[in-house]
Amino acid sequence: MKTYELNNGTKVFKYGHPIETGAIVQSKIEKELKEELDILFEKGHAKISIKFLPNDMVYGFGGNLGGINRRGRLYESYCTDEPLHIEDKTKLYSAHNFFIISGKETKGYFIDFPSRIKYDVGYYNENYFNIEIYGEDFYTYIIEGKDAKEVSEKFLEIIGRSYIPPKWAFGYFQSRWGYEDKGKVRKVYETFRKNDIPLEGIFLDLDYMENFKDFTISEERFSGFEDFVEDLKKDGLYLVPIIDAGVKAEEGYHVYEEGIAGDHFCKNEAGDPYEAVVWPGKVHFPDFMKEDTQLWFGSKYKILTDCGIEGFWNDMNEPAIFYEQKALDEAIQYAHEQKDKNLDVFSYFKLKDNFTNLANKDSYYKNFYHEIDGKTVSNDEVHNLYGYYMTKSANLGLSKLLKNKRFLLISRASSIGMHRYGGIWTGDNSSWWSHLEQNIKILPSLNLCGFFNIGGDTGGFGGNCNGELLTRWLQLSIFTPLLRNHSAIGSNNQEPYVFSKEVLKNTRNLIKARYSLIPYIYSEYMKAVNNYTLMFKPLSFEFKGTLVEEVEDQLLLGDQLMLAPVYRSNQRGRYVYFPEDMLEVSFLDRDMATTVRKKGIHYVEYGLEDLKFFIRKNSIIPYVKPSKNVKELDLTDLQLIAYVDDEAFYKLYDDDGKSYDFIEGKSYLTNIKIAKKAEDYKINIDNNNPYIKNINIKIIDSNNNIIHKEI
Ligand code: GLC
Repeated sequence: MKTYELNNGTKVFKYGHPIETGAIVQSKIEKELKEELDILFEKGHAKISIKFLPNDMVYGFGGNLGGINRRGRLYESYCTDEPLHIEDKTKLYSAHNFFIISGKETKGYFIDFPSRIKYDVGYYNENYFNIEIYGEDFYTYIIEGKDAKEVSEKFLEIIGRSYIPPKWAFGYFQSRWGYEDKGKVRKVYETFRKNDIPLEGIFLDLDYMENFKDFTISEERFSGFEDFVEDLKKDGLYLVPIIDAGVKAEEGYHVYEEGIAGDHFCKNEAGDPYEAVVWPGKVHFPDFMKEDTQLWFGSKYKILTDCGIEGFWNDMNEPAIFYEQKALDEAIQYAHEQKDKNLDVFSYFKLKDNFTNLANKDSYYKNFYHEIDGKTVSNDEVHNLYGYYMTKSANLGLSKLLKNKRFLLISRASSIGMHRYGGIWTGDNSSWWSHLEQNIKILPSLNLCGFFNIGGDTGGFGGNCNGELLTRWLQLSIFTPLLRNHSAIGSNNQEPYVFSKEVLKNTRNLIKARYSLIPYIYSEYMKAVNNYTLMFKPLSFEFKGTLVEEVEDQLLLGDQLMLAPVYRSNQRGRYVYFPEDMLEVSFLDRDMATTVRKKGIHYVEYGLEDLKFFIRKNSIIPYVKPSKNVKELDLTDLQLIAYVDDEAFYKLYDDDGKSYDFIEGKSYLTNIKIAKKAEDYKINIDNNNPYIKNINIKIIDSNNNIIHKEI
């Protein structure tokens, strides 16, 4: 074991010869340290056991199912295409090996290891946190701090600044697998405009491709693509196409031919390109572990950027495998052999399972190989880096192609390190109320692991959404950086206008409210990412006490807001715990009704026609008039709503929203201070944002008295 320290005091322990994943950006300084974890190396695995204290809580593990407090559950890090997000699933698309144990003592742990890790977070034995690492070569990082918030900030610092999308990526996006041609896409756009619903862009699913082939555009269904993109862009509308990990193995197809010629594909044991089956039939997987393959694949995005595209979603990059030919052949063979037999229950199950378990078998990932620094390494050994490196490849390519222009890039699979190259969506959820609830809980966990450009498929991907669920889901997603309504082929449509007039009215107002709040959401995003702080926090990161530790359906957004969405059907409101006095705001009420809520538990009415949030004491929220897209957002008349007890402060961050010039300090700051002085308020504004001309302020005091000010 070798030991090191990072600048911020993080302790680093190196076991064996780990693969360098690139997750950590800070350099390691050799330092002698005492081993802190009890690690047992056995049969090629490493086992760690941590004894819990009764009140320890566990945060982290990013994109997984379960609560904000991860204690009492099983988790597994092995990126998986898991279409059914049900309670007993231990792994989804990501491998986010960072967690904080917080109790009498607080410590953060990061295990930098690219293959399988299993976590029993006090599930089988409530007193122990047992970890099994499927290898002996890895790093552990241990971060100390006075509380979970401090530890999380130190971790964000060592993994480096998260990916920053353009401002237009904060708009509302409509998506669906099944917008099968240009006409359908145009119709969606026109129907949004006709119904006066803001719309920033439409995601293009597999439908736009020629036979599911990456970097092709169907001539039949999307002819004149470039003109189409340009035409929609004139009205400020972006198209965001999907790119899949598997490249169709088909002679004559340019990506396949180039991949073969350039030796870019993962190999099988015999040294030939490995073949598996995904959407287009047989595919090869680019070996993203090789730098020249990263550059090659990244450069292919040019085909679409040349058509004016500035945003992409990378999918199926766990990588998902429907089947290997051999496994399918064996299943078919077995089925033939069972013909005319009188099958008992177990033989019948075997027959059935042979087919239903064909996808993403563990064994497949041992059958193909990457080349790392001239060495051959099975995918299994570096499995969790695949989506990460595909997205890194896209990011490198797009950065070259689009120069100083920011782009939207999200991925399905991820591990820590990828957060610097793109955001993520939470994968194939369903139109279930429980998935709306899950969506609340996943947000702070993802932030803890560095992912900020995040959002779930609003309305749910699988299954049929109804108007009530979509409305309630939007009441949450209005606050997530990525706001996309996406649904699966075969499910009912779930665009805001397909339901009743009432639903249309409510969802339109909600999406408009999103645009009104973009100055705030963008400001909070940028400040969090640039200052290595969390955007979404559990209540327990700011307040103390048993109640806050147990609240899992409320979140803090920035330092100003608390959110408490309704996530059950047939509810007219819900109980909300207020850890301090807060100001309840009905944002969509014509007069923007406010109520002062005293510390404690209150039943808060929350109708489908509203958008509610709770402003913390001495906080200020900026907003503007809604617009149909980000391009038309007008900051001339900035509105502020301030809940002032004695002195409130807000730093509104803004920049051009398009370039990376902010890195050189080219940003606009508006510092607002409102201080109570005797019977009046003293307002200080220090503004260098050239777009803001007038500021209208609504000050609310602790007795709910409202005072208007104009500057
Ligand atoms: C995967 C993606 C989903 C997409 C579908 C078809 O299931 O997660 O978002 O719609 O593939 O491309």
